[in-house]
Amino acid sequence: MINIFQIIDQEKKWPIRSVQKKDLRKLEYGLMYRRYRKLMELSFLDHQYEKKVYLVALVKNKVAGQIIIDWRILKDETKSDGKIRAYLYSLRVYPPYRSKGLGTAMILFCENFLRERGFKIATIACEKKNPRALKLYEKVGYKIFKEEESAWEFYDHNSILRKMKEPEWILEKELTT
Ligand SMILES: CC(C)(COP(=O)(O)OP(=O)(O)OC[C@H]1O[C@@H](n2cnc3c(N)ncnc32)[C@H](O)[C@@H]1OP(=O)(O)O)[C@@H](O)C(=O)NCCC(=O)NCCS
Repeated sequence: MINIFQIIDQEKKWPIRSVQKKDLRKLEYGLMYRRYRKLMELSFLDHQYEKKVYLVALVKNKVAGQIIIDWRILKDETKSDGKIRAYLYSLRVYPPYRSKGLGTAMILFCENFLRERGFKIATIACEKKNPRALKLYEKVGYKIFKEEESAWEFYDHNSILRKMKEPEWILEKELTT
């Protein structure tokens, strides 16, 4: 199991650590992300087998956000190739904690984590209808290198299959030392 615990900001306000089973319901943030329950459970298992790195950020000991790194060889190797490039996704900061720098801090934490393990490029996808996220990614140095019509599906908390189709920007950032 990947065991990461590091204090990331200078005031030691926002610890970031590996997800734990007890976090999973809290990560649904009430009804807001409930539909992703099964995906979160699967990612939790993937984290335990080191296929992914699933991290949560805490504010005053409460789960305030999450981010996942997929560092396997993916079908789309421009996102993650298991060696040089790794893919950051599922970044969420819960509403009361937004605009304080927590999203930025989680991204920077992941970049350091990857840099220390020899990765050279971090990638991230951004729905075209999410300008706030795009602005944040560009601000921390990501650049659009392609666009795609991402089609994916998942079973929600009621085991209903949901099909998604989202035009996205795909961004990358070189992890210089
Ligand atoms: C996108 C998201 C993750 C951003 O998280 P966040 O914690 O609010 O991000 P940050 O605080 O690091 O940066 C966002 C803004 O806060 C500002 N900010 C950063 N540090 C700050 C600080 N110390 N004090 C005040 N504001 C600050 C940034 O300048 C930025 O401002 P801007 O929106 O005017 O550019 C969050 O809005 C979210 O969870 N959205 C829903 C899910 C989502 O869209 N995820 C992305 C999928 S692609």
